[in-house]
Amino acid sequence: MRSLLFVPGDSERKIAKAMLTRADALILDLEDSVASSAKKGARGTVRAAIDAARRGKARPLIYVRVNPLDSGLLEADLDAVVPARPDGVMLPKSRGGQDIMHLSTKLAVREAESDLPDGEIAILPIATESAATLFNMGSYAGASRRLSALTWGAEDLSADVGASTNRLTDGAYTDPYRLARALALFAATAAEIAPIDTVFVNFRDKAGLASECEAARRDGFTGKLAIHPDQVATINDAFTPSPQAIARARAILDAFLANPGVGVLGVDGEMVDRPHIKRAERLLEAARAAGVG
Ligand code: COA
Ligand code: MG
Repeated sequence: MRSLLFVPGDSERKIAKAMLTRADALILDLEDSVASSAKKGARGTVRAAIDAARRGKARPLIYVRVNPLDSGLLEADLDAVVPARPDGVMLPKSRGGQDIMHLSTKLAVREAESDLPDGEIAILPIATESAATLFNMGSYAGASRRLSALTWGAEDLSADVGASTNRLTDGAYTDPYRLARALALFAATAAEIAPIDTVFVNFRDKAGLASECEAARRDGFTGKLAIHPDQVATINDAFTPSPQAIARARAILDAFLANPGVGVLGVDGEMVDRPHIKRAERLLEAARAAGVG
């Protein structure tokens, strides 16, 4: 998943529009972009949208962002959407591996009730939305086979700590949010799942989005959340491995294949060893997933 596009779950119009984009995944939202009075209707709209998507041929992955575990809304969200068989559920305000196990149990019960394969519905947590969560980032590893990816959020976190801003005037995140971002990257890597960078809310600023994508890709994120259809192409481009990167990864793997039993080699004047093999394999996997490998 390179691009994951948020769509308010109460907007049939936006859901229809989102289906026509090239986003790898849609996140149909039942949480913050839906007013309390519209939650009930949104559940029905989202369920119908998943049914319709499943009848189509080519479709993006469909995730549903449900309300948090302690919201009092989650049970009804799951009752409504699980029977339609979404590819995954995004859990906001996730506090750590315990929350993932808790949600996984709720999903398992509903999968059984709907005669769906056990463990099929994936979980994607937003892992940094309050200060306390940052001390649990190591707990995602091994929490559940359902974990497919992990992302982070800066908006709710800044509200939690009472910060007046989370970005400097040049657009760069301030230190507390840079730490949250790095912890999300390490938590996902430790859990062997995809690290997904957070939203870029200024959706008219294409250059700003491109440079944030570039920084994320450089650091090891494999995708980014989008809030507007216009952001999808920029994100897909940034996270699709370039022909040069693919050629270099192939050269590294070929060099080791040609030299069995050797631990370290020089490729194009640079030392490569075990971590480089792992990185090259990951890059080729991402290229295949993006249809360019
Ligand atoms: N998914 C699908 N379609 C979208 C969309 C989205 N996320 N965001 C905008 N569109 C559609 C609009 O409906 C509009 O289509 P229309 O003219 O046929 O109605 C078109 O794209 C252009 O939209 P634009 O006028 O540029 O933006 P807007 O002012 O209508 O909407 C937002 C701005 C921020 C409200 C909107 O992008 C949005 O709802 N984003 C998702 C919000 C969300 O889910 N947040 C939760 C996670 S942080
Ligand atoms: Mg939020």
